[in-house]
Amino acid sequence: MSETDHPVLPSGYRLVAHETLGSTNDEARGLIAAGAAAGTVVWARSQTAGRGRHGREWVSPVGNLYASIVLHPRVEPERLSEMAFVAALAVRDTILPLVPAEASVALKWPNDVLIDGRKISGILIEAEKLPGEARTALIVGIGVNIVSAPRETSHPATCLSTVARPPRASQVLGALVAALDRRLEQWLRGGFAPVRDEWVRHAYGVGAIVVVGDDLKGAFAGIDESGALLIELPGGECRRVVAGSVRYL
Ligand code: BTN
Repeated sequence: MSETDHPVLPSGYRLVAHETLGSTNDEARGLIAAGAAAGTVVWARSQTAGRGRHGREWVSPVGNLYASIVLHPRVEPERLSEMAFVAALAVRDTILPLVPAEASVALKWPNDVLIDGRKISGILIEAEKLPGEARTALIVGIGVNIVSAPRETSHPATCLSTVARPPRASQVLGALVAALDRRLEQWLRGGFAPVRDEWVRHAYGVGAIVVVGDDLKGAFAGIDESGALLIELPGGECRRVVAGSVRYL
């Protein structure tokens, strides 16, 4: 990869750059097993086996951003799922200055980022036991559509170039790691409540009718204090959902 097109990362982060990889998340997992430290950032210009949530494919041509960041957050294991919302806010922080003021940059549970209702970024967070330690590492895999977006996806997709002059992937990665570092600090110092409040403020379609999984249908009513999705059924009863995919009707 060209030396001149590397991102500037905040201190404490180390770049591992490749032209192409199967999946940056898989590469990060191998590096953790070999002793990679927190702050390792794996970046590839393209992926041949990019993965999304629920075993979906993440189509990964050159021009978009594919990166996985290794973190060892010092929180109780049951709080690690909060990272989904921390990462989504960091992606939103990164994208906001790149798009026109009239564009809406919103969040879809648990951690998709949408521009004007269409998906621009997906996040796949995977946990990995640290060799010889009780702690768990997180691999925060982030894809941002910069110059192209896939067709025929479960939720319509878009890319930055449809609304703005597209930046280089290296620029987006530098800004993203800096934003993630700031959001991590907010979460570790202030707990989940401020992260949750901000996520809800920017949530897409509060009150809209959604289907979760195959058959749970109701109004999207936000998230609870642990990040679980809240669905209000027609009779007024509220259901909590901790995992699954959401489809807006
Ligand atoms: C989703 O929305 O389903 C999550 C998509 C996550 C894609 C990123 S691209 C970088 C990292 N490597 C992968 O194989 N997946 C994640």
